[in-house]
Amino acid sequence: RWRLGRSGPLAGRKVVVTAGGTQEPIDAVRVITNRSSGKQGYALAQAALDVGAEVVLITTSTALTPPYGARVIMVRTAADMLEAVLREIQDAEALLMAAAVADFRPRVVHGQKIKKEDGIPALELEATPDILMAVAEQRAQLGYPRRVIGFAAESDDLLIHAQEKLQRKRLDMIVANDISATDAGFEVDTNRVTLLFADGRIQALPLMSKEAVAEAIIQQLVAMLT
Ligand code: CTP
Ligand code: CA
Repeated sequence: RWRLGRSGPLAGRKVVVTAGGTQEPIDAVRVITNRSSGKQGYALAQAALDVGAEVVLITTSTALTPPYGARVIMVRTAADMLEAVLREIQDAEALLMAAAVADFRPRVVHGQKIKKEDGIPALELEATPDILMAVAEQRAQLGYPRRVIGFAAESDDLLIHAQEKLQRKRLDMIVANDISATDAGFEVDTNRVTLLFADGRIQALPLMSKEAVAEAIIQQLVAMLT
């Protein structure tokens, strides 16, 4: 692997990456979560390190080993991730929001394990905070992070949904990921993505390894920051 490290184009500049699926507790042992291996997020953290960035990886527990050199912050819930993100972006050049944030969480969390013999619990759900929407608010106030990149995994009308999220979440770029194919997205090592930019540009990338996708995204980030 070609590593520019300290002489790279993002040398000494802070990049925050989120990865993994948040876990929203139902009780002491059960959670609601999203399908996410964390692979794309960890590959992004590595690619950012390779161009010299100071990387903070905010991640849920995954089966992966965090890239050497990243500062790792472990979180569980969307609320925990929100707090860590809002704190870490205050002096960051960029946020790459690759985490799969659960959209719903149980309204009531049982401290003890719910027993089967007590019957099937009725789960009342509430919305989790939208982290990127909170980031947009804070960024409007503080001016940081300078660049925000979001991700959209969609099973249909990929570009329409991605375009809508790009605008609603006030992103500089969104990585649209087609999860309808079996060779891209969840639990595989490859991804087929299209990059959509705030200025209207669109760039479709071929099927590539998640490492190559990460390098392409970081190249775009470098171009946006330099
Ligand atoms: N995201 C976030 N906070 C949430 C949900 C999502 O910051 N509570 C981020 C994701 O990390 C991703 C982007 O928003 O970078 C798009 O996520 P996605 O799930 O596609 O969008 P949602 O707004 O949750 O819409 P939906 O799931 O209904 O498609
Ligand atoms: Ca969602």
